[in-house]
Amino acid sequence: MSATAIARARRTAPAGLVTGAEWTPAQVKDLLRLAAKMKANPNRYRSVLDGRFVALIFEKPSLRTRVTLEVGAGGLGAKAIFMDNTASRLGEREPIRDVAKNLDRWVHAIAARTFTQETVDELALHAAIPVVNALSDRFHPCQALADFLTLDERFGGLGGLRLAYVGDGNNMCHSLMIAAAQTGAAIRVATPAGYEPDAGIVEDARRVAAETGASIELFPTPEAAVKGAQAVYTDVWASMGQEEEAAERAKIFAPFQVNRGLLDLAAPDAVFLHCLPAHRGLEVTEDVIDSPQSIVYEQAENRLHIAKAVLATLAG
Ligand code: CP
Ligand code: NVA
Repeated sequence: MSATAIARARRTAPAGLVTGAEWTPAQVKDLLRLAAKMKANPNRYRSVLDGRFVALIFEKPSLRTRVTLEVGAGGLGAKAIFMDNTASRLGEREPIRDVAKNLDRWVHAIAARTFTQETVDELALHAAIPVVNALSDRFHPCQALADFLTLDERFGGLGGLRLAYVGDGNNMCHSLMIAAAQTGAAIRVATPAGYEPDAGIVEDARRVAAETGASIELFPTPEAAVKGAQAVYTDVWASMGQEEEAAERAKIFAPFQVNRGLLDLAAPDAVFLHCLPAHRGLEVTEDVIDSPQSIVYEQAENRLHIAKAVLATLAG
């Protein structure tokens, strides 16, 4: 049965997970189903990647992404090789093309956390093996997929699910819009003026949404987006690489803080999500993130199951 689910996912999957948008709604559905099966019965999948290797190249720090890829690879019989690239950007010591063309002689997949999306794109262009985006400045697909798995578990379905995203129109916001479009959810995004998500990504997500019944709406105030939402999501106001903007952003984003007053505008059974790491007292108050409504650790747990499903599908 496990072989069938993996065989099906492998047969239909795209060549990599470079943006997340290259996956069709049906492929995302298969991936989420596989992740749920792996979560329910991890032993059944213990050796599906026996003898395989995955290179993890990280230009930025990580807790969740690194550990879930390493534990996930190990849980499937594969070995992950962590390449700490935090001291220099990829492409500085040698061209990215050469990194890709060396790695594909030794390992079966690459997961890369980079400053620019172009770095992940270039790795994928030149590597003859699948490349997984482990976060770039534009996308964080592994996180968004884990979040939709979490929401699916909580609400028993994703079609029409009302998700509000409040804060920066960043990598997380982009990937949540894409995943919402793929899964048929209704995402309502509130950002300060000037910090809206990329217009091209909104357009792409809306094109997919038109097929799946999803909706992607943008709002200038958090209250408008959160009203009646079943799930409220926020992320840091200054992403990795934007540290020098943090003080200015803290002022601009202050009205977008997810606090008790804002969360009370959502549906009574609403849940709170955050990809983590979080800054308590900035984008979210302690009483929200540490409340029973918060499902941030369920999200974190599901990073593992999505990492496994992605690796089993692409690195097999
Ligand atoms: N949410 C997430 O990607 O966490 P890390 O930066 O710790 O990997
Ligand atoms: N937007 C955040 C997400 C961290 C998981 C960042 O890029 O730093």
